[in-house]
Amino acid sequence: MTENSIPTQEAALVVDNVIKRFNVAAEPWWRRLAGRRKATNGQAANGHDAPHKLKARRGKELVTAVADVSFSVYRREIFGVLGPNGSGKSTLIRLLSTLLLPDEGTITVFGLDVERDEMAVKRLINRVSVEAAFFKKLSPKENLLYGARLYGVSGKEADRKAREILGRLGLRESSYTSPMEDMSRGMQQKVAIARAFLTQPVLLLLDEPTTGLDPRSKLEVQSFVNELRDTHDATIVITTHDMNEADALCDRIAILDDGKIVALDTPAGLKRRIRHNGHEPTLEEVFMALTGKELVEKDDVTDFEPEKVLS
Ligand SMILES: Nc1ncnc2c1ncn2[C@@H]1O[C@H](COP(=O)(O)OP(=O)(O)O)[C@@H](O)[C@H]1O
Ligand SMILES: [Mg+2]
Repeated sequence: MTENSIPTQEAALVVDNVIKRFNVAAEPWWRRLAGRRKATNGQAANGHDAPHKLKARRGKELVTAVADVSFSVYRREIFGVLGPNGSGKSTLIRLLSTLLLPDEGTITVFGLDVERDEMAVKRLINRVSVEAAFFKKLSPKENLLYGARLYGVSGKEADRKAREILGRLGLRESSYTSPMEDMSRGMQQKVAIARAFLTQPVLLLLDEPTTGLDPRSKLEVQSFVNELRDTHDATIVITTHDMNEADALCDRIAILDDGKIVALDTPAGLKRRIRHNGHEPTLEEVFMALTGKELVEKDDVTDFEPEKVLS
């Protein structure tokens, strides 16, 4: 049990002292000399050494992406992981979905260990990320039916479900049968979410599902996420760097900075921490006060390359 858990509620997910490090190519000596370090969130380099460096392999540098993180998520909760680019959100999601194994610590999903009971955990979870891979020449319908077959859902049932979900997400009927490569990123993201819900994931992991979407699609995805929790009895972990989204959607929010949780509370609780002169602080101000940094909104996702993804 971790300090953030409330024993009276059923835990869907328990993350206990998890650490994940990566070996990355060391910076060239001339850049180190110049004191210019690669900034992780697009801001100017500050000349400080990264805080988490241990012994790395030769010519490599050890980067701690997730640095001793502990938290629990309760059943039917929408749990937000909020942090700037490079703060470790995707690494955390990959650890929760068994795509990566923790270097230290344990993760359990409904009491099952991600390492020991990997297959059983896989059956309970589903991950949606911006890198969702599709067959680009195939339509959403074909992609979804293919996905359904992999999961043992019948074609007819999958077709019915897929149409229903995509309809609710505002996907035009004609788009359902045209190639994925002709669709906007927002549309593709909706299809990825629909695919995750062809099966009945008990724990849904959404890695920045609304990043790069237009405001309207953002709202559609957000209300869909809310609906899924209500109608599917799902527990949802969602990462975002959008303060308003976290505020509107999440029951609790963990603020991640440099691989560490700097705060974990309800949106209201977070705001209460920084009350000044009667004016209610925004989450933006909370983040600033907790980390001393601005949370950079990166709405035009430059690193998303559909041609690379849609293979
Ligand atoms: N596969 C990997 N190999 C090496 N470094 C990685 C890898 N994945 C993530 N990192 C590093 O870990 C840190 C956290 O990255 P990530 O989890 O992608 O953050 P976020 O999703 O919040 O942007 C970054 O410094 C990133 O460069
Ligand atoms: Mg990420």
